[in-house]
Amino acid sequence: MFPAAKVAALGRIMHRFATMENATQYELRLASRMSRLGTETAFEVLSKARALERQGRSIVHLEIGEPDFDTPPNVVEAGVEALRKGWTHYGPSAGQPELRQAIAHYVSRTRGVPVTSDEVVVVPGGKPIIFFSILALIDVGDEVIYPNPGFPIYESMINYVGARPVPIQLREERDFSPDVNQFASLINDRTRLIILNSPQNPTGGVLSKEDIHDIADAIGDRNIMVLSDEIYSRLIFEGEPFSIMSIPGFKERTILLDGFSKTYAMTGWRMGYGVMRPDLAAHMTRLMTNSNSCTASFTQVAGVEALNGDQSSVDHMRAEFRRRRDVFVAGLNRIQGFSCRMPRGAFYTFPNITKTGCPSKKLANALLDEAGVACLSGTSFGDFGEGYLRFSVANSLENLNEALQRIRQWTTKNL
Ligand SMILES: Cc1ncc(COP(=O)(O)O)c(C=O)c1O
Repeated sequence: MFPAAKVAALGRIMHRFATMENATQYELRLASRMSRLGTETAFEVLSKARALERQGRSIVHLEIGEPDFDTPPNVVEAGVEALRKGWTHYGPSAGQPELRQAIAHYVSRTRGVPVTSDEVVVVPGGKPIIFFSILALIDVGDEVIYPNPGFPIYESMINYVGARPVPIQLREERDFSPDVNQFASLINDRTRLIILNSPQNPTGGVLSKEDIHDIADAIGDRNIMVLSDEIYSRLIFEGEPFSIMSIPGFKERTILLDGFSKTYAMTGWRMGYGVMRPDLAAHMTRLMTNSNSCTASFTQVAGVEALNGDQSSVDHMRAEFRRRRDVFVAGLNRIQGFSCRMPRGAFYTFPNITKTGCPSKKLANALLDEAGVACLSGTSFGDFGEGYLRFSVANSLENLNEALQRIRQWTTKNL
């Protein structure tokens, strides 16, 4: 037992930390741009759900977008071995030459376009490619077209640099692919960047080859860059992956974003990459030098093994996500007020909940607080996400069935 005086002193220290915000006479003066920076609600819901768990509540976690599988053992071994061999120092800002080469081969093979390693920049996760592309290419007042509902970091970063966000609404009746006529009408002389994401977060929509050709036709020969976020490229259940990068005339106008987080269950390793024309790659590398210096060296050694080694875990994870998707979508469609299309890629389901009569955010909060199911409001992905919820199926079938049962019970009682 601690003596009472020590406990009291500890209490005073804890109180001081708790009230630290008020403990200074110096007002926190943030740069005005910070008021324009958004966030990713998944992390907030996760911390709220964890707080409820600490109070003894049981929560099924379907909020966060990460595979529940472990990183494949051959990749872990390569990382551990790399640490033992001393891959613990700074490396080149654009990435280790072996990894850039492996990525160049992989992208050439999977996208059907020749890529060389000077077109590859390795960064800590897929996100920095969004951050750096927008920082490098977009000025105040420029326009950026991006999917809505869509990954929230696009809109956050567009606002952050003082550009104009131009959302293209993804509609359920079009299986969440953009209407090309509407898309064409949004392009003008101020458009500097178009963001595509397929397979898509949060809807699970996959752009068909025809859709992508139509989009390319709408862009024509304008000098507009395309950021093609293909982080879920290995998680397609129906249809073939296709990148705008492979359309003649588009390679030099495309920044391909891909990475290791989703494909190899490596979210915590922080490793992703961009493929782009070499002159732009040099500027991205400068942004890396200014921000991170380099991506962690030993993780890059593991990255080479991930790309070149046995791929059976990727196939296994995809088959498992597909099985869970089928069960979960069927279950959602049996719940009063819910209707859900079959997502064709990624590991999300995006049911329409308008018939429940509840706004999305209110319903997501109620499901967490009262039913013990953590999910995200469609509005976490932009205004056009109203009327939807996002559930990740990156959880066991047992937990997914438990979530369905809890939601069913809640709706029966409350709607
Ligand atoms: C569409 C999309 N792009 C990029 C990312 C970022 O991935 P990473 O964790 O590798 O930074 C995510 C992560 O959820 C995503 O959903």
